[in-house]
Amino acid sequence: MSASKRTATITLDGKTIDLPVHHGTTGPDVVDIRKLYAEGDVFTFDPGFTSTAACESGITYIDGDAGELLYRGYPIEQLAEQSSHLEVCYLLLYGELPTPAQLADFEGRVTRHTMVHEQMHYFFRGFRRDSHPMATMVGVVGAMSAFYHDSLDINDPWQREVAAIRMIAKLPTIAAMAYKYSIGQPFVYPKNSLDYASNFLHMCFAVPCEEYVVKPALAKAMDRIMMLHADHEQNASTSTVRLAGSSGANPFACIAAGIACLWGPAHGGANQACLEMLREIGTVDRIPEFIRRAKDKNDSFRLMGFGHRVYKNFDPRAKVMKESADEVLGLLGIENNETLKVAKELERIALEDEYFVSKKLYPNVDFYSGIILEAMGFPTSMFTPIFALSRTVGWISQWKEMIADPAQKIGRPRQLYVGPTRRDYIAIGAR
Ligand code: ACO
Repeated sequence: MSASKRTATITLDGKTIDLPVHHGTTGPDVVDIRKLYAEGDVFTFDPGFTSTAACESGITYIDGDAGELLYRGYPIEQLAEQSSHLEVCYLLLYGELPTPAQLADFEGRVTRHTMVHEQMHYFFRGFRRDSHPMATMVGVVGAMSAFYHDSLDINDPWQREVAAIRMIAKLPTIAAMAYKYSIGQPFVYPKNSLDYASNFLHMCFAVPCEEYVVKPALAKAMDRIMMLHADHEQNASTSTVRLAGSSGANPFACIAAGIACLWGPAHGGANQACLEMLREIGTVDRIPEFIRRAKDKNDSFRLMGFGHRVYKNFDPRAKVMKESADEVLGLLGIENNETLKVAKELERIALEDEYFVSKKLYPNVDFYSGIILEAMGFPTSMFTPIFALSRTVGWISQWKEMIADPAQKIGRPRQLYVGPTRRDYIAIGAR
């Protein structure tokens, strides 16, 4: 961050306070309000953080008006076309694209950490079989801190690094185990001969009694889904990870907190909710009824997979996802899938509707991802766990960035208190 020549001036009860304005490398400047309380005896009020930058970060940049997403400066479309998820993981974690030797070393390290402690298998067995895989993941990822004691010291850069590799490597294994457990099939161990995405598909769909060969085109689509979800600057779950980490909590606990936040339907849970909505709509002729409901202020129904806090234009990830949906369904010979037809028609109608146009509501990443995942054979309950395992690298990169920042402080928002003022206790018999 660098100081700009601009200053923001605020006048309170005749007292003038000058607030410095800082530049980033791109994007809006920020007014630095850190001395406002000390000098002005007021807080700022911004529930939902619509105008508040909570940290400095050099990882991901979004221009919501232009519909642009950059990981370490590289446009998501170029990465989706030319890169791989593990290369993107390296980029997010270390800041630069790897050389071939660096990538091979990184892939080797991740691959060799994909197995989980054998005792964890028993931990899984404590859950009810009908648990949502996200419920299992929140518990199991939090419990990793009980299994990997040698990567809990957040002040040791080496331990932070080991924790990062462990989580990137093991989250697909844990998600696949949560799935297998929920359908009553045996866990499938990771296979080091497979790439990251193929390994995940194999752990989900293989059974011990027969050979399962992963289709390369499906592995490529899976890899792309992972890459498109890898990071998204200071979204709700990432901010949750940072806030949990700001107290010095261990990295596994912080990622478990992020997974819990991601689960909500306004965030990562939207992919499951979106596919369920498309199924409920069922046929193209029922779309107007749902559009009407989405616009009705007295109806809590929202068009899932539409709208975004930051994007006021097309979510660039949704564009890539739409292409992938066409490719995958074409490959599987189900391009006439009714859900895809409903999705495309719903998108077309909403993009022409005055309500959605005026509010700048466009399809987001979740609008098409569920269609691809369903075509691959995943139940809707696995959509958000797949988002979680893909976002793990973003969470851990942001957590590492925060811990390494010497200016880092515990996150502690203030409030506008509207409760009762001081009053005296009344004995129970006198109430
Ligand atoms: N359907 C209908 N109306 C909508 C929708 C929608 N999907 N999204 C927003 N609106 C309307 C709101 O009712 C509001 O209208 P108003 O100004 O008349 O009150 C206006 O658009 C602004 O919406 P807010 O909720 O204030 O916007 P916010 O930035 O807080 O919410 C959010 C963004 C949560 C993503 C919202 O658009 C939404 O609920 N979308 C559906 C869920 C979804 O797809 N979430 C995934 C987000 S992407 C991700 O997490 C990976």
